[in-house]
Amino acid sequence: MKSNSLKNLAIIMDGNGRWAQQRGLRRTKGHEAGIEVIRDITTYCANHTEMESVTFYAFSTENWKRPKLEVEFLMKLLDRYLKKELITYELENIRFIAIGDLEKFSAKLQETIAITAEKTKNNTKLTQVLALNYGGRDEIIRAANRVVKQGEAITEASLGLALDTPYQDIDLLIRTSGEQRLSNYLLWQLSYSELAFTPTFWPDFNTLELQQIIDDFKNRKRRFGGI
Ligand code: FPP
Repeated sequence: MKSNSLKNLAIIMDGNGRWAQQRGLRRTKGHEAGIEVIRDITTYCANHTEMESVTFYAFSTENWKRPKLEVEFLMKLLDRYLKKELITYELENIRFIAIGDLEKFSAKLQETIAITAEKTKNNTKLTQVLALNYGGRDEIIRAANRVVKQGEAITEASLGLALDTPYQDIDLLIRTSGEQRLSNYLLWQLSYSELAFTPTFWPDFNTLELQQIIDDFKNRKRRFGGI
C-alpha cells in the first residue's frame, strides 16, 4: 500500500503554562522553552521530511483575554524570536510567513513580521507559517469579504484562494498537552486532515515524537469521503 504524503502539517502548541507550573516556574518560562521547540521542529521538518509547510498556532484571536503582562511578554518574545530566527531561516533555506489579522499588533511588531517575511521570501525548502492573532472564523470572514470586494461569486475555489494560507489542505494536525479540540484553528484547511493528540506538553515535544506521529500518519487510511 502506498503511504500517505505529508505536505502540510499544522501544530497547536499547547501546555507551556502547565509545563512551567509543574516546575514551580512562571508561565512565561514555558513560553520561552516553547520557542526552542518551534526552532527544532521547523528545522527537522525542513531537513528530514517531504513537507512543504508547517503552521504553528502562536497567538489566537482569543489569546488577548490572557493577563496583560502575559500578552505583553508574548509580543516581546515574538519580536525577539523573529529577529534571532533570521539566521536559521537563511541557513536552512526556510521561508517565513505570518497568517492572521496582523493589524492589531504594534507598528514595531508588524514591521518585524513584514521584514522577516520579505527577507526570507525566496527561500524554498520549507515554509514556516506562524498563525498570529489568528482565528479560523475570522480568516473565513476576511476571505469572504475579499471575494465580495473583487466582485466575484463565493465558491469553494474563490474563497479558498482568498484565505491567508498559501495552501488549502492540511494533511495532519498535531495538538500537544492532551486537549482534544480545534480551538478555532484553520477551520477551512482542516476539513479532511488527520488528527493526532499527544499528552506531551509543548516544551517537552521533540523530533523523535514528531517522527513517531508521522510514521503513524503514513499508515492511516485516508478516504476523503470515498470508500
Ligand atoms: C499554549 O500554552 C501556547 C500558546 C499560548 C501559544 C504558543 C506560544 C509559544 C510556543 C511561545 C510563543 C511563540 C511565539 C512565536 C511568540 P498555554 O499557555 O495555553 O499552556 P496551558 O494550556 O498549559 O496554560
